[in-house]
Amino acid sequence: MAISSSAPSTLPEQRLAPVCALARGPAELAAHFAIRRTVFVDAQGLFERDDRDDRDEDRATLHVVGLTAEDVAGAVRLYPLDDDGLWKGDRLAVLPTERALRLGAMLVRFAVRTAAERGGRRMVAQIQVPNVRFFERLGWAPDGDPAPMLGVEHQPMAIELSRRPGR
Ligand SMILES: CC(C)(COP(=O)(O)OP(=O)(O)OC[C@H]1O[C@@H](n2cnc3c(N)ncnc32)[C@H](O)[C@@H]1OP(=O)(O)O)[C@@H](O)C(=O)NCCC(=O)NCCS
Repeated sequence: MAISSSAPSTLPEQRLAPVCALARGPAELAAHFAIRRTVFVDAQGLFERDDRDDRDEDRATLHVVGLTAEDVAGAVRLYPLDDDGLWKGDRLAVLPTERALRLGAMLVRFAVRTAAERGGRRMVAQIQVPNVRFFERLGWAPDGDPAPMLGVEHQPMAIELSRRPGR
């Protein structure tokens, strides 16, 4: 299932490989939120009705969409935590039907690259424990002890942005 966005897509019609971009306009932003709702509310039950929070209203927060040939199929968001180059990424989600196509990895790399381009020096995230290996393969490392969050064990992880990770 892909979530439709009626706005003109970020890229030309005939893209072959998945791509990531900052959500452009209300339709792509709505698609970003719809992906998150499908994954974090409907599938994982981490939130009762909606996973949106104050961060989504903050102008510093960047909302990313992952686009397959069909439509928006993934999401992630990122934001600065301070004025000293510390960024955080969260709400990484790929629709269940679109997984294992490398879109998740692409979204993580895009978030890391985007934070680095905006002066970030370090990025942190709270990672659901079954996804730790996925993040390690993308250059992230554990950064503290696991702890429950939203009823699920999360591992704090971090990546140094100055390394300019591969695309
Ligand atoms: C985690 C998630 C984003 C991965 O998305 P995806 O598009 O399926 O991942 P990719 O196809 O980019 O995976 C890249 C590689 O990592 C592997 N991989 C994916 N999930 C993995 C996991 N949990 N553990 C270890 N490896 C994993 C894939 O097999 C693939 O391996 P390959 O390069 O050898 O083919 C997706 O499963 C998801 O949305 N899960 C539910 C929401 C969630 O848990 N979000 C993260 C919260 S911390």
